[in-house]
Amino acid sequence: MTGQTFKQGEKILFIIFGIFMACAVVGYILLEIYRHQLDRPMFKNRVNYVFSEEGKRGYELYSHSRCNSCHRVLGNGTNNGNDLDGIGSKRSLEWLVNFLNEPEKTYPRRTFDHGALPKEAYYVEQMPKSDLHAIAVFLSELKVEQGSSMSPLPPRGRSEFIDNMVGTWAPKDWKDKYQDVRQTEKYLKSSEEKTAK
Ligand code: HEC
Repeated sequence: MTGQTFKQGEKILFIIFGIFMACAVVGYILLEIYRHQLDRPMFKNRVNYVFSEEGKRGYELYSHSRCNSCHRVLGNGTNNGNDLDGIGSKRSLEWLVNFLNEPEKTYPRRTFDHGALPKEAYYVEQMPKSDLHAIAVFLSELKVEQGSSMSPLPPRGRSEFIDNMVGTWAPKDWKDKYQDVRQTEKYLKSSEEKTAK
């Protein structure tokens, strides 16, 4: 024997792996066929961007200031820092201006990259104030619809699905440790607006 034959257990493993691969390929092909036949996008677009003149200038500055080496915006950039798409729905323009100018004073926790040397993004707070303002305006215009994956708040109104998921997966002691974001004033208010419409 030259050791080329497979043991019984190995054969079974290969077969199981083969079945998984085949299912994945067939599933992918079926999904693509289904997607091509749809006359609307498969997922509703919940992100929209309307830029003011200053916002457009901010975008230009943003693109040339190495922000993309740590952040993601409009689908470009990296995930080293945080994703800034939708940040305009989470932070106010004032907060963004303050953060870019004085990150360490503004950020709720200790900063990792923004702040004074030797932090890597030290150069940001040294940029001209008017440039930082334009960038802040640009960021504040990156809005997302509530309930999208980038939104800080879940969809408006009661969702049975979310209730079930929380009921099933959230450990009991989380109730004491964390506040359910759906109980916060901000969320309740946003849901009222929806019912009022
Ligand atoms: C070296 C990596 C790096 C670079 C470069 C960088 N950032 Fe950041 N950024 C971070 C990290 C990490 C955080 C989280 C705060 C921290 O720990 O510093 C952050 C936080 C932020 C936040 C606050 C997000 C929030 O809501 O909490 C904004 C706004 C921001 N960056 C904008 C920018 C802009 C604009 C530029 C370019 C001019 C830039 N950043 C360049 C890494 C970076």
